[in-house]
Amino acid sequence: MKLTKFVDRLPIMETIKPTSRNHNGAYYEVRMEEFRQKLHRDLRPTRLWGYNSQFPGPTFEVMKGEPIQVKWINNLPAKHFLPVDKSIHHLEHEPEVRTVTHLHGSVTKPDSDGYPEAWYTNGFAQVGPYFEREVYEYPNNQRATTLWYHDHAMGITRLNVYAGLAGMYIIRDKREKSLPIPSGKYEIPLFIQDRSFNDDGSLFYPSQPDDATESLPNPSIVPAFQGDTILVNGKVWPYLEVEPRKYRFRIVNGSNTRGYQLFLDSEQPFYQIGSDGGLMKKTVQESTIELDPAVRVDVIIDFSQYEGQNVTLKNNLGPNADPNDETDDIMQFRVSLPLSGEDKSIIPRHLSQIPSLKQNNIQAIRNLKLVGTDDEYGRPLLVLDNKKWMDPITEKPTLGSTEIWSLINVTGFSHPIHIHLIQFQVLDRQPFDLDNYNRDGSIILTGSATAPLPNEQGWKDTIAAPSAQITRVIAKFEPYTGDYVWHCHILEHEDYDMMRPFTIIDPNSNNGDS
Ligand code: C2O
Ligand code: CU
Ligand code: CU
Repeated sequence: MKLTKFVDRLPIMETIKPTSRNHNGAYYEVRMEEFRQKLHRDLRPTRLWGYNSQFPGPTFEVMKGEPIQVKWINNLPAKHFLPVDKSIHHLEHEPEVRTVTHLHGSVTKPDSDGYPEAWYTNGFAQVGPYFEREVYEYPNNQRATTLWYHDHAMGITRLNVYAGLAGMYIIRDKREKSLPIPSGKYEIPLFIQDRSFNDDGSLFYPSQPDDATESLPNPSIVPAFQGDTILVNGKVWPYLEVEPRKYRFRIVNGSNTRGYQLFLDSEQPFYQIGSDGGLMKKTVQESTIELDPAVRVDVIIDFSQYEGQNVTLKNNLGPNADPNDETDDIMQFRVSLPLSGEDKSIIPRHLSQIPSLKQNNIQAIRNLKLVGTDDEYGRPLLVLDNKKWMDPITEKPTLGSTEIWSLINVTGFSHPIHIHLIQFQVLDRQPFDLDNYNRDGSIILTGSATAPLPNEQGWKDTIAAPSAQITRVIAKFEPYTGDYVWHCHILEHEDYDMMRPFTIIDPNSNNGDS
């Protein structure tokens, strides 16, 4: 089905209003529901699952230091409308539709973090082995930044998110508000996702890999999935009318597998001011931006020289791209609105302080391999450090300790690795000989360590760990003890089985590493 580009206006998600306020702060109720929404002029309304019947979900806007409570209510049907593979994670024993919401990048206690096994069904009729609490608490005691919330249920995260269960969450603070950067109607969220459609307008998601043999489970998980259509804020290839002035865009990659390499066809630069964990030290001017799944970038684009022109936000597919691949376009900016007043915003050089964690006393260095194997059906099975989700917990940082995690990628492709609770700093990347590793299992370094890209030098919670490289990150594990997870954020990998629990241990109790 061929959809005309740039015929729908970019929608802006609505800001959610609290259901009530009490002494604990604002209280929200959010219902996960099935509904239909028109995603393109020429598409019939698409069946989706979303928060408060919106796709993407409504945006939370909160101030730093002001806690909120959210009751995430599962009102979904008992049957999934996407193909659930019951051969993984013993899902044949579990209800087909399970949900648990995670606020990605947030600093929350474990009982509000959306542990994958803390799922529940419609009306809490059935709960997983790890039930948390019915009303989640978000302290919002962290740097101002763009977070996003999405489903995280064990073994079906890819399907729940693809069905529409994702939205944005913005934490603001006074300091950021005082910066003379574009704000108000000149600050725009861009939530980028890929999807494929059937002719009747329904979402297409493969029920088996293309090369499936008869012995494969049906449905079967696929090792990766990229939709052939790009949506921003829930519309296919939309356009946005802008004034000839500066705008701030908070960009989130909410796609399952697809990473983007953003650029503007006007050849103008992005001025990146923020990364996953908020404002960077200095503004980074760049002509392209890598946007892996789950990564957020906060950029200023200056349209002042482009009055009357169209500027397309593009995705560089590389020189070997299939000529029929339409995903080189993301959306269009039409510099068609009259300037409604002088643009007094500026692009600051210096943005914030970021103390380096390297000065800290390092309590542990963990060498963690990203590994590809096969399962009993011959399907690719990706794992972290040769362990599956169900294996005993091996990563147990002590509360308040600083650790270095070395992500040694011995697979053939890059994985965006995400750690819950903390924001880390990227130390460096160093190449090694993968052929040699495949021969005898030893790591032989083939070059010196290189610094992270300029836009990776702020706080990050999701980082590209490229093939045949060691990517080192440093983090301080605080402020809570308990069980969290880390995983590849390619959702098809996360579901099978590139996700592991980790536990932050209280140094004063005696359940530490032994
Ligand atoms: Cu965006 Cu564990 O997730
Ligand atoms: Cu997360
Ligand atoms: Cu991966």
